[in-house]
Amino acid sequence: MARQHEALIVGAGGAGLWAALELAKAGVDTAVLTKLYPTRSHTGAAQGGVCAALGNQEEDHWEWHMFDTIKGGDYLVDQDAAEILAREAIETVIELEHMGLPFNRTPDGRIDQRRFGGHTRNFGEGPVRRACYAVDRTGHMILQTLYQQCIKHGVKFYDEYHVVDLLSEGGDLGSGGRAAGVIAYRIADGEMHVIRSKAVLMATGGFGRMFRITSNAWSLTGDGAALTYRHGVPMQDMEFYQFHPTGIVGIGILLSEAARGEGGTLLNDAGERFMERYAPTLMELAPRDMVSRAMYQEIRAGRGIGGRDWVYLDVRHLGRKVIEEKLADITEFARIYQGVEPITEPVPVQPTAHYAMGGIPTDNDTRVIRDEHNTPVPGLYAAGECACVSVHGANRLGTNSLVDLLVFGRRAGRRMALDVKGVGMPDVAADVQEPVVGEIERLRSARAGENAAGIRKELADVMMDNVGVYRDEALLTEARTRVRELRDRYSRVAVMDKGRTFNTDLLEAREVGYLLDCAETTVAAALARRESRGAHAREDFPDRDDASWLVHSLAYRAEGGPVLRTKPVTITTFQPKPRTY
Ligand code: FUM
Repeated sequence: MARQHEALIVGAGGAGLWAALELAKAGVDTAVLTKLYPTRSHTGAAQGGVCAALGNQEEDHWEWHMFDTIKGGDYLVDQDAAEILAREAIETVIELEHMGLPFNRTPDGRIDQRRFGGHTRNFGEGPVRRACYAVDRTGHMILQTLYQQCIKHGVKFYDEYHVVDLLSEGGDLGSGGRAAGVIAYRIADGEMHVIRSKAVLMATGGFGRMFRITSNAWSLTGDGAALTYRHGVPMQDMEFYQFHPTGIVGIGILLSEAARGEGGTLLNDAGERFMERYAPTLMELAPRDMVSRAMYQEIRAGRGIGGRDWVYLDVRHLGRKVIEEKLADITEFARIYQGVEPITEPVPVQPTAHYAMGGIPTDNDTRVIRDEHNTPVPGLYAAGECACVSVHGANRLGTNSLVDLLVFGRRAGRRMALDVKGVGMPDVAADVQEPVVGEIERLRSARAGENAAGIRKELADVMMDNVGVYRDEALLTEARTRVRELRDRYSRVAVMDKGRTFNTDLLEAREVGYLLDCAETTVAAALARRESRGAHAREDFPDRDDASWLVHSLAYRAEGGPVLRTKPVTITTFQPKPRTY
């Protein structure tokens, strides 16, 4: 069944919804496709806040926010993009306030702001209150607010449609072709839909599910990044994957950095605030890469709680009022998942795979670029966690994910609204869906074969154990071999559910394929980068090496595994310096 819309958004998180809203307001016929119900998108799990230098609590400036973002990203950030992020954060947060987002308020009625990791006053002198928040459910509020606005402005939604391929006209996306729409599988009944469009935005989120312990929902399987990669677009900076310091032990559900922003501390088995040793100025509010490494150092030295692989997050001294009014959700999570009462007990925490700094390369207008010369792919855009613009460099600062998806989601919508004017609807062949229909039918009809859930589990184990906070040549080489073996086994996957109605077995089989693409590029880029920078900590190359490695990596798909190239980092204002906090 062929349909068409002037603009198509894949993914209904904050980036996708804000882009859709801009398009609809500009009078462009716009549809959002999402494999979930929109308000179940993972933006809704973002907790602690969204940064903007409003200066409501104390002096602040967007230039300080820009600097913190660049230093936090260990100087791999493109500085022109970081300037856009920090400047436009202010107007996007105000715009959200005007849409009705229920932020916490100061006594005089302004948006309240709190501290978060790596955000400082006057270029690093000490912590600053920059994170605007709605209790510890900021992402949830953003998602609800934007969804309501989209409905109000007539955006169309294809809920529970799984995008299984991208369409192009005039060649593949990586070799000069123009984006032409998508092929989507309707989860309710297994029907395939070809949807043509003049402009397609990938806003599909991250791929944290390639790790065993992660804060990411089961749906975060890298669909958008993998689909563009399969069509010849490289993945950028995949070696940089962030581990958030405070996940629930064993399952990884997030306990917001806002707990530390409000004054919570991290304690080892001896009851010491061990961050004194690693980041004497910012302590627990150092950037996440540093805090996660410090936790592992303590654990390796035998100072984990009871000699185990976790430490304590302690908020007891904040008192019941602060905990219940500002940290309500995470307090409940600790009670439900750990049986711990944070008002009276310290909470066991360990690092959890949280955020991909890398992804689909884009320019500052969210246009997808297909090579190291920054050549745009006509009609194709990316924003939010699946994209790499790059504002996070080697390590994202807390709350900059929400800023990124708001600022660049909005820019995406505005740019697409301009670009669709004056171009015709692309042509696609009548039988364009046949190859992907064939793939899906093969999966469904195979009588016996490998089990996707088993491959997924083994992948998550090897990525966690070999490609986690600390890496080295031996671990990464083993990971490369294991991921290749899993890829080989994946070619023989069969699904047990042969039906068409809500076939989650089939969806999982597709998703594991996407995760394998993300894992293979992550491992290849991590093996190649022989230095330590931000979240990429190589024990065999412990120093940052600006002379050789102040470059972005680009992983291109090739027969024998990813081929890597590099491109320069844009430096406009702040020269790289040693990174101390
Ligand atoms: O800790 C948190 O609330 C997470 C925020 C973020 O990843 O930006």
